[in-house]
Amino acid sequence: MNHPSRLLVLVIILIGLSIPVLADKKHVSIKNTLGSGKNMTLHCQSADNDLGVHNLEDGDEFGWDFSDNISGTTLFFCDLEWESVQEFHFDAYSFGRDFVRCDTGCSWLIASEGIYGLNGQTGYWEFIYNWPN
Ligand SMILES: *[C@@H]1O[C@H](CO)[C@@H](O)[C@H](O)[C@H]1NC(C)=O
Ligand SMILES: *[C@@H]1O[C@H](CO)[C@@H](O)[C@H](O)[C@H]1NC(C)=O
Repeated sequence: MNHPSRLLVLVIILIGLSIPVLADKKHVSIKNTLGSGKNMTLHCQSADNDLGVHNLEDGDEFGWDFSDNISGTTLFFCDLEWESVQEFHFDAYSFGRDFVRCDTGCSWLIASEGIYGLNGQTGYWEFIYNWPN
């Protein structure tokens, strides 16, 4: 291979690596599956955005779209409250943990035993957060 084509290959690889990070929209969704008609209150934010306080009834879902930060620092965190749990803090999307795990999106189920997250790589729901005792 001569130099110009090597450079071309390098450029193509770099574009291929950076476009998904810059342009891909990801979706986060959080669903109340507490059952028994239980409501929950959810407040999610990043350093730049406050997504507001939402009352979610049993079966309701709250979600939003975002693009990963070019600097790889994207973090959305939430505070959650329901009958048995006060001010539970968790990360709904953290670049380091979720960039690969939540390929196109992060889905969460809020259940009476804790919080499940969908692993986009395996397609399995994983039990990620226990409620505090
Ligand atoms: C749940 O929230 C709705 C309003 O969205 C309210 O009408 C209902 O009474 C609440 N249920 C309980 C059990 O607090
Ligand atoms: C993106 O990164 C900047 C700084 O690196 C940070 O201030 C901002 O909160 C990040 N955005 C999100 C959505 O995490």
